[in-house]
Amino acid sequence: MLKSCGKKLLLSLVGSMLTCLLMLVADPQKRQGLRLGGEPAGGFGAYFSQLSRSKRGARAEDEEAAAAPRRPVEEIAPRDVFIAVKTTKKFHKARLELLLDTWIARDKDSTFIFTDGEDEELKKRTRNVINTNCSAAHSRQALSCKMAVEYDKFIESGRKWFCHVDDDNYVNVRTLVKLLSSYPHTQDIYIGKPSLDRPIQAAERISENKMHPVYFWFATGGAGFCISRGLALKMSPWASGGHFMSTAEKIRLPDDCTIGYIIESVLGVKLIRSNLFHSHLENLHQVPKTEIHNQVTLSYGMFENKRNSIHMKGAFSVEEDPSRFRSVHCLLYPDTPWCPLNVAY
Ligand SMILES: *[C@@H]1O[C@H](CO)[C@@H](O)[C@H](O)[C@H]1NC(C)=O
Repeated sequence: MLKSCGKKLLLSLVGSMLTCLLMLVADPQKRQGLRLGGEPAGGFGAYFSQLSRSKRGARAEDEEAAAAPRRPVEEIAPRDVFIAVKTTKKFHKARLELLLDTWIARDKDSTFIFTDGEDEELKKRTRNVINTNCSAAHSRQALSCKMAVEYDKFIESGRKWFCHVDDDNYVNVRTLVKLLSSYPHTQDIYIGKPSLDRPIQAAERISENKMHPVYFWFATGGAGFCISRGLALKMSPWASGGHFMSTAEKIRLPDDCTIGYIIESVLGVKLIRSNLFHSHLENLHQVPKTEIHNQVTLSYGMFENKRNSIHMKGAFSVEEDPSRFRSVHCLLYPDTPWCPLNVAY
């Protein structure tokens, strides 16, 4: 089953010339047997050694490490985190309002809204609204264009952590800060949840008629992911200015996959998997009720034609609060003026 990136890829492939052969690696043994040595071209040599390494065992350890409670290594505040929320003008009312009423209301200084149209009403409601001037289309190019602006604005901000989320994500900023404070921001940290259970393969164009298969993991943009400043600075030759767009074009991948490509394939840094991030492409009913307050991101949407949202008895009914975000917010911050008093959860 293809999820976020895979779906987008298929869609983008249908409409475009098939210069990028993309498929999922069904057999990890095949990957190990693949011969890739001998041709470190175009300055992208670093990933060859990565590919021959067996990733399975190491991945299981990463996941465990991310799941276990970790000790803080660095004291950070919400103000140290740059949370980029990607939206489009069409969803300012339908999606963003809910976020502005809930989690963004408490963390306006941490949150930066990246959109594609002017909206004076929105600017009145929150501080950091950035019109990317990117196309409002849901195309690979338009999405990469927004990610490129997010990256540049983060670098400009001087903050310690970059986090990207979508306009259907609830961010528990308290747990996000706690998670990030267990890693040093000066080191190479890329944390999020992969949407596939195996690396994707992409074809990297190295010359006019020469392609190289590359394999890498990426964190799905729909669940949110974070990158330390130390790592973000290393990404600069492939991500800053106009480079992100050209990198995305080179491998013909959507924005979140391109991030994974730069980090894992080019720089040789591994994604740290965390189960605390959630996208609308997973079954959100499976988030245990008793663990909702520990999650970093949540989402809602439709999945296989059914409403997909977390399951909780909350301050509001499913009819009043289909995303469950208002109920989650009252669970986390019962002192919010619009939250009913004395709710049993
Ligand atoms: C978008 O265009 C406006 C008007 O030309 C400009 O002021 C603004 O800086 C542009 N935004 C970005 C992110 O480049």
